[in-house]
Amino acid sequence: MIVRLHQTASTMKDAAALAHEGKPHGTAVIADIQTAGIGRHGHAWHSDDLGGLYISIILRLEIAPTLTLALGLAVQRALNDLAQVSTDLRWPNDVMLNERKVAGILVQAAEGALIAGIGLNVNQSAFPPDLAEIATSLKIETGSEHPKDALADRIIAESLRYVALTKQEILSRFERNSTWPKGKAVEVDGHIRGTTAGLDENGFLLVRTPEKLETIIAGGVRTL
Ligand code: BTN
Repeated sequence: MIVRLHQTASTMKDAAALAHEGKPHGTAVIADIQTAGIGRHGHAWHSDDLGGLYISIILRLEIAPTLTLALGLAVQRALNDLAQVSTDLRWPNDVMLNERKVAGILVQAAEGALIAGIGLNVNQSAFPPDLAEIATSLKIETGSEHPKDALADRIIAESLRYVALTKQEILSRFERNSTWPKGKAVEVDGHIRGTTAGLDENGFLLVRTPEKLETIIAGGVRTL
């Protein structure tokens, strides 16, 4: 079931309410505008532009770090096929287009389920000054508008397909489809500096520093 809303506070909250009612795995909520979009690390997610696509999906699965990697792969697959763009996946879960973020992913536990939130920048023509350097949209990069409904349907279908893969399949696909896990000079949360050295068996990022091999469980990883 897909619930399509024009405006809401956050589709994460709507999906959590549906999970509370007992709605099954795969139930999704889509909105054109969010008045209180939630991003990672307590940040807001810019959601007041009709050009954005805001999706939340109920997942009745065990929490695993590979889930967010699987969702990134799903968004990448949908964008490659429907918008013919080539995206990179910045570990753990940012979808990048020409070095700027085109989609963000957030997984939260709520009401005995997991809620996968996906924010995709589709038809925005511009971003506020604080985001302009780091965010982009399909329209900005391709020069044309893209149908949001078709993208939403495909992203939901691919998400359900990718989260059902084994951990090993998710890890190997992520390592193939992202430039981030191996050989990239990075800084993590402004303090750890080193070169990426693969993913461990849980999907955590290994970073070789001059002192040791660090396992990065979460955090903002940026190029040096
Ligand atoms: C990030 O910070 O990169 C993750 C952003 C996730 C935003 C999406 S938009 C749909 C869903 N509803 C929300 O309020 N947040 C997520």
